[in-house]
Amino acid sequence: MARVLDAEELEARARALLPSDIYDYYAGGSGSEAALRANTEAWRRVTLRPRVLRDVSRVDTAVSLAGARAGTPVCVAPTAFHNLAYPDGELASARGAATAGALYVLSTRSSRRIEDVAAVLAGHGGRWWFQVYVLRDRSLTEGLVRRAAEAGAQALVLTADAPVLGRKRRDRGAGFIPDEDFLANLGHLDDQASAEQAADVGLGDISWLRDISGGLPVLVKGVLRGDDAAACAAAGAAGVVVSNHGGRQLDAAVPTASALPEVAGALAGYPGCEVLVDGGLRSGLDVLRALALGARAAFVGRPVLWALACGGADGVRDLLTGLTAELGHEMALAGAATLADTAGL
Ligand SMILES: Cc1cc2nc3c(=O)[nH]c(=O)nc-3n(C[C@H](O)[C@H](O)[C@H](O)COP(=O)(O)O)c2cc1C
Repeated sequence: MARVLDAEELEARARALLPSDIYDYYAGGSGSEAALRANTEAWRRVTLRPRVLRDVSRVDTAVSLAGARAGTPVCVAPTAFHNLAYPDGELASARGAATAGALYVLSTRSSRRIEDVAAVLAGHGGRWWFQVYVLRDRSLTEGLVRRAAEAGAQALVLTADAPVLGRKRRDRGAGFIPDEDFLANLGHLDDQASAEQAADVGLGDISWLRDISGGLPVLVKGVLRGDDAAACAAAGAAGVVVSNHGGRQLDAAVPTASALPEVAGALAGYPGCEVLVDGGLRSGLDVLRALALGARAAFVGRPVLWALACGGADGVRDLLTGLTAELGHEMALAGAATLADTAGL
């Protein structure tokens, strides 16, 4: 089994390497950081009921996600501006994910051009989705979505929990984000406010995004309630990501481990709408907890940034293969030979 990198150790190493304002930008949460802390704590409280006398001589972590096959349910969450962590930015994190067989979600706020990241992914057999912030000038969003679809994105992830930006105490004005990173995919803008997130994003945008992308599946990220999940499914979403943006938006938001069972229950009647989750997942055991509570896959955010800062593409690959190996080991201990066996543990 590959050596499992401890997420806390990885973070400590990255903290020592990164300038303090960049470390704080990545690590921080909004407000008092209550939601940030609660995410990790809530997973640790989830206990499982292992099954015994099951044949676990072969454990299979393969999964299909909105029609895309992946070797692991451990996926890379969309996070902004990877150039701040490592010189090759998203080119390196994407290569790491692809070589680990993990699904990669590219942020709207990528510091590398969509086409360049897509070429790296294609070169390594990687599968990827494009995360969408609907921008105030919707024609900018439309341009990005069309480019992502053209470049080979297999789904869109509409981020729904950021109509305005959460206020982060640790941020010192985000002045350290260079224009060339912010504008990497947008080019020159007369008015940078046109590229800020729109506050009027609605359910109708699910079908809008599907239409302008030529029919890509659309998943909604940031769902924490069963009624919202059902509304997204009824509006045509192919999935929802249970997420509170890693504790960076509403500081009083419920931890994702607590929200997941309600969302999974609400979507039981919508087999076409998959349930995914992120927020505070730091080990293969956490991923197993997420699967047991009804998720089909789990995304990691900050640990990927730490791995990127410490080891570039190889660091990201080792993190994801390590988490997957650990998941397989925990599945065997819980009596689950396939991901389907993890339901109801
Ligand atoms: C530095 C940073 C940047 C992020 N940028 C984005 C983004 O551009 N789009 C988005 O949908 N979510 C973004 N997120 C949220 C992540 O997709 C994800 O929900 C969160 O990081 C998961 O929690 P974790 O970091 O505890 O694993 C960002 C999170 C961090 C930490």
